[in-house]
Amino acid sequence: MKHLLSIEELTREQIEKIVDLAILLKKDRKASPQVLAGQQWALIFTKSSTRTRVSFEVGIRELGGQVMFLSGADIQLGRGEPIKDTARVLSRMIHGAVIRTFAQQDVVDFAKYGTIPTINALTDDEHPCQILADLQTIKERLGGWEGKRICFLGDGDCNVARSWIWASARLGFELVIGAPKAFQPQETFMSGVPAGTVRVVDDPVEAVKGCDVLYTDVWVSMGKEAESADRIETLRPWQINDTLLKQAKPDAIVMHCLPAYRGKEITDEVMEANADIIFDEAENRLHAQKAVIVEIVQQAS
Ligand code: CP
Ligand code: NVA
Repeated sequence: MKHLLSIEELTREQIEKIVDLAILLKKDRKASPQVLAGQQWALIFTKSSTRTRVSFEVGIRELGGQVMFLSGADIQLGRGEPIKDTARVLSRMIHGAVIRTFAQQDVVDFAKYGTIPTINALTDDEHPCQILADLQTIKERLGGWEGKRICFLGDGDCNVARSWIWASARLGFELVIGAPKAFQPQETFMSGVPAGTVRVVDDPVEAVKGCDVLYTDVWVSMGKEAESADRIETLRPWQINDTLLKQAKPDAIVMHCLPAYRGKEITDEVMEANADIIFDEAENRLHAQKAVIVEIVQQAS
């Protein structure tokens, strides 16, 4: 594994290895392998971030490396310098890049034209780091994902939902996408996914029936702000609240990639009742991403 561009590109074995290593690294942060000693990494972000930015900055330092944060708006990329030139310049100076941006193609091009490991820290198409941390959380909480039914509720065509769909395709757990017609995974996307990977349901009660995990994300992803009012209106019945939760398994857990908008995709009550799991999930970003970097660096050496 030279890069992490998507869950789609990973094999079952790679996902399992990363999750197991993340669980191990979490046990003793001070004993992190110094695989990045002498290395300089850059975070290139053209979208906002709290968790991803901080967990990568801390994680890279814990692995012995140094890290710089480059806001897309501040570097020449923001004034139109092509991503392929940015990749070739930075490859001569740094050892790895973590990129958060809009187009998946930009991350793919950076990896193609550069010569350094490239990690997708969220694009419009995928959020692989999030899903690896989520899988770690599910393994810690439920012992694993085999035989479990996971339900993603809300914008079923967003980056996080798509990465969940690929995780289900690779790992074989049961995935339900609960979303109204306008927010179901697009046909153009689904045509590339193995048949039978996911059940798409347009009734919230039906969607959560028998589920072990209820998962949600913001209704208005970064870049979709102009559609806010329509999205909130259409997605309102898909809120995770106590009434809907009663329809899932009695011991179902609730997860959220954060940031959470209470009163929209989740109520304050459900959020607080599941805070221990949800903030563990946020912490696991650090461990899962360190595992990704260790895996990449070890493969390269
Ligand atoms: N979940 C997540 O990626 O959070 P940030 O946008 O804060 O990085
Ligand atoms: N789907 C959300 C995820 C935020 C972590 C977005 O793209 O804004």
